[in-house]
Amino acid sequence: MRLTRKVMALAMASTMAVSLTACGGGKAAETTAAPAAAETTAAATEAAKEAETTAAAAEESVAAGGNIGVCIYKFDDAFMTTYRNALQEILEGKGYTVTFMDGKNDQAEQNNQINNFIAQGVDALIINPVMTSAADQIIATVKDADIPTVLINREPTAEQMSAYEKLVYVGCDARQSGTMQGELILETETKGDINGDGKISYIMIQGDPENVDAQYRTEFSVKALTDAGMEVEQLDLQRGDWDRNKGQEIAQNDLAKFGDEIEVVFCNNDDMAIGALQAIQAAGRTVNKDIYLVGVDALDAALNEVAAGNMTGTVLNDANGQAEGAVEAMEALLGGKTYASGEQSIYVDYVKVTPENVADFQ
Ligand code: GAL
Repeated sequence: MRLTRKVMALAMASTMAVSLTACGGGKAAETTAAPAAAETTAAATEAAKEAETTAAAAEESVAAGGNIGVCIYKFDDAFMTTYRNALQEILEGKGYTVTFMDGKNDQAEQNNQINNFIAQGVDALIINPVMTSAADQIIATVKDADIPTVLINREPTAEQMSAYEKLVYVGCDARQSGTMQGELILETETKGDINGDGKISYIMIQGDPENVDAQYRTEFSVKALTDAGMEVEQLDLQRGDWDRNKGQEIAQNDLAKFGDEIEVVFCNNDDMAIGALQAIQAAGRTVNKDIYLVGVDALDAALNEVAAGNMTGTVLNDANGQAEGAVEAMEALLGGKTYASGEQSIYVDYVKVTPENVADFQ
């Protein structure tokens, strides 16, 4: 079975025109390749033959399916739920048999799940590590078992990944999302300085600080402000672990403590921003009038709040794009592709979401 998919993926790479998105992948391949075959050159005839082989291999492979193990750091995470659903739809749509495991935010538990998948002989793994610091161990395990692996959402260093050539990371560059959050504030009427005292006073509600997304968003959102020549004052920085309730609690405490001094609430993700919004409204403050609020992810709930003017903006963390990229990379690995050191990270762009363009994302 593994060999069949290998043949298919290799042929896919060489024809480029083949798409397996539709369930009748083989058919699509035949149709797509047909115009090339219509040309009269010997090369075209060769291409047609190749396409037929590809189509046959694809049909066989889709029918046979492959077993894919997916480890998510925890199911109870708003953004990763969207991501998980996207992965499931794409993989099952392509005929794979997929098993998702909930790491429950426990690295030891996830290690067991990875070992179980390996013992079951899965064809490939897609892993969203619980701890970025566990990357070395995870990479050593999948390398030892010789399983093609795509890491998602929590990026290891290039050096760590270089230990295994059948390993790819698909995700986003979190620096970009932080910068965009800062820009959202700079694009407001007062550039974030609502009280006109010459500095932007903010609180930072951080995700899990072990996660590079949290580190970079925290750093680069503020850097965008200072790079633009603005003075900043950090009133508070607290970890909210990506969690809505924690976002609400932190904002509530800070609003009680600092009151009108707070001009900007930076949240490393939308779920915490939605929690912060509850606290802001309960404190009688009005977003975009006497306080600004930004998140990241573009969760449906946040898009609604941006459209309603209750959030200043958010940043699209493209779950569908990343899921597509992860599956594409997985199929390349299954086709025998290996990745050189320094070329193992594949990035999907973030997109700034404001009241002006929010309708495009809803
Ligand atoms: C981030 C996302 C957060 C959370 C986190 C989990 O990219 O913005 O909402 O899902 O990943 O690692």
